[in-house]
Amino acid sequence: MRTQVAIVGAGPAGLLLAHLLAADGVESIVVESRSEEYVAARIRAGILEQSTVDLLRASGLGDRLDREGDQHHGIYLQWPGERHHLDFVELTGRSVWVYGQTEVQADLAAVAHARGQEIHYEVGDTALHDLDTDRPSVTFTDRSGAAQRIEADVVVGCDGSFGPSRAEVSSAVRRTWEKTYPYSWLGVLAAVAPSTDELIYAWHPDGFAMHSMRSETVSRLYLQVPNDTPIEDWSDDRIWEALATRLGHGQDGWTLTPGPITDKSVLPMRSFVQTPMRHGRLFLAGDAAHIVPPTGAKGLNLAAADVGLLAPALVAMLRKGDHTLADAYSETALRRVWRCTHFSWWMTTMLHTSGDPFEAELQLSQLRWVCSSQAGATGLAENYAGLPIGF
Ligand code: DHB
Repeated sequence: MRTQVAIVGAGPAGLLLAHLLAADGVESIVVESRSEEYVAARIRAGILEQSTVDLLRASGLGDRLDREGDQHHGIYLQWPGERHHLDFVELTGRSVWVYGQTEVQADLAAVAHARGQEIHYEVGDTALHDLDTDRPSVTFTDRSGAAQRIEADVVVGCDGSFGPSRAEVSSAVRRTWEKTYPYSWLGVLAAVAPSTDELIYAWHPDGFAMHSMRSETVSRLYLQVPNDTPIEDWSDDRIWEALATRLGHGQDGWTLTPGPITDKSVLPMRSFVQTPMRHGRLFLAGDAAHIVPPTGAKGLNLAAADVGLLAPALVAMLRKGDHTLADAYSETALRRVWRCTHFSWWMTTMLHTSGDPFEAELQLSQLRWVCSSQAGATGLAENYAGLPIGF
């Protein structure tokens, strides 16, 4: 097979890239190790920041988002006895939307299908070749067991932290930064109307808790738990009890309504950055180059921002022979990557309890400052609701 851009990974980064390239007349072929059903169903992020929504709308993907997405003006931050609302629109003029990654993925899969995008699901043995030449290729074994090769002008790794692309950046230039956190999240999806109009981020001596949502009838909730927590330790009753305590059920008349839990998982928390995001004819986008802990909802937005930069760079390179944007991609993308890496680390370490009483006092002091100072609140709002593409 021959195409202009071989894309490894059919998650939101890979499919959004294929969509943006197609809109500007650049062909691509996508390969994905998982099945189409798995990619469509996996429960991931839920919040889109302003710049992601702007990008989706500008590329013709805004219709269902505008109909079914829920625009939020801000978030609640709380600690025992106090709940404060931060209004991002008032503070920065920007807002966020509740629209799950599953919905973004469904929209991307629908437009890919409509334009006849070539996507190979359930491939094995994916390998990247000749990335330092102008004829790179990707080989794989297709679903029927046949060996395949895609020859391309450019290969883009959108294959997350477990895919093969990341390791292809030569060890001579590669640098990595990594931080693991001493806690995980227990995440649940519940078939119950959210007990709040906007997301609640709660500091509590027992550990962080968060009330998010996916729709008017589906709630998404998280609890800080120790690393390696066996999921069997957390019955549905225990989960709802811990959420009620940490989220302040009964305080100032607020109540948490429990409901049937339909999905439950433990998520480890990690910060990871690998540089550069380009090596020869290989470009990395999304989780293939960086992982953020979920607090602050940056992962999907950062992947979309990478692709929003990369697509015009590849169009200029492949259609006009102008390499300027492609040559600047890694450095430009990494400015935002490090900003979001810092913000996610900051939100995470401000809200999760470590058991150290000194740290707890610092966290409470920081939370009081963020909620009472215009400067503190604006800093959080700017980072959360989104920096412009190209920041
Ligand atoms: C969600 C996840 C987050 O990490 C966050 O900060 C906000 C919302 C969510 O899954 O809904």
